[in-house]
Amino acid sequence: ATSARHIDISEFAAALQRECSILVGENDFKWRNTQPQPDRKTWGHAEAVANFAQRHKMQLRGHTMIWHEAMPPWALEGIKESRERATQILRDRVNSIGAQFRGRIATWDVVNEAIERRDGLRHGMRNSAFFSALGEGYLDLAFATAKEIDPAAHRAYNDFGMDHEVDWQRDRRRDVLTLLERLQARKVPIDTLGIQAHLRADLPFRENTFRTFLRRVADLGLRIEITEFDVNDRALPADTAIRDKAVADLTRRYLDVALDEPKVVSVLTWGISDRHSWLSDMPDRRRADGLRQRGLPFDEVFQRKPMWHAIAKAFDAAPAR
Ligand code: XIL
Repeated sequence: ATSARHIDISEFAAALQRECSILVGENDFKWRNTQPQPDRKTWGHAEAVANFAQRHKMQLRGHTMIWHEAMPPWALEGIKESRERATQILRDRVNSIGAQFRGRIATWDVVNEAIERRDGLRHGMRNSAFFSALGEGYLDLAFATAKEIDPAAHRAYNDFGMDHEVDWQRDRRRDVLTLLERLQARKVPIDTLGIQAHLRADLPFRENTFRTFLRRVADLGLRIEITEFDVNDRALPADTAIRDKAVADLTRRYLDVALDEPKVVSVLTWGISDRHSWLSDMPDRRRADGLRQRGLPFDEVFQRKPMWHAIAKAFDAAPAR
């Protein structure tokens, strides 16, 4: 994942060109950033990322058409007006970004993070603006519209919290699976699950649980992409060597299982260098001791870390696909 503001920095650009074959915009394609007002489309930053990918012969993921966190205020207001208005706003969003990048996107994250059991709704659906206005059918509408506007792109549902051996993630695995089953029963045109894979070094990971989950998704006939891989080291001690080893070990264990599943077709990390990571920016993820998080393959000065080698070994050991 990268941003228009990073591809202008030579160290970022060099590392991305050397290391990556797929790019995704970290924030530049999000709704709030691309349509701050109803009549104002601002594609400049997204286009910069798209053009960088094209120039360097990389694929491009589209992230994301519909996400509750990136809603522009005007859209939130409009959605409340009526069912018709909400439908129109959703279709306009998908059509406008879909048309802008038509033919250039390998996979669209059509809907991001639609599950949140704590919201207390049936099936664990998140109580988002589009859900309140349109019910679960907002996903059907988003996927159908995405297919109309760019039929050649893969279409993903993307979500977090499906990785670890803890109760709330077990619930999320179940809720995502049953959502996917309902979508398929309604013939919604989805072909991919995006697994964000924001791992946490302090949570247990169990190979068998994750393997079984991937198999069940694959059994639905879906492709799987690992879309936002990183490892949050917040709960680990300050010592760099200890953190780097724990991050690398978890990376290797996770990717070995992921890549064993033939339906897993890609792995993207959420950034490339610890110089920039949302884990060090967001107040609720930042380390309490003020040190930068070390959850990405390159350190702050763009040196390969043990995590880089863990990824390389997992890729080398992976069955051909
Ligand atoms: C994050 C970005 O990394 C931050 O810079 C931004 O402030 C908030 O969004 N799940 C997603 C991503 O799908 O879009 C989020 O990205 C991280 C969690």
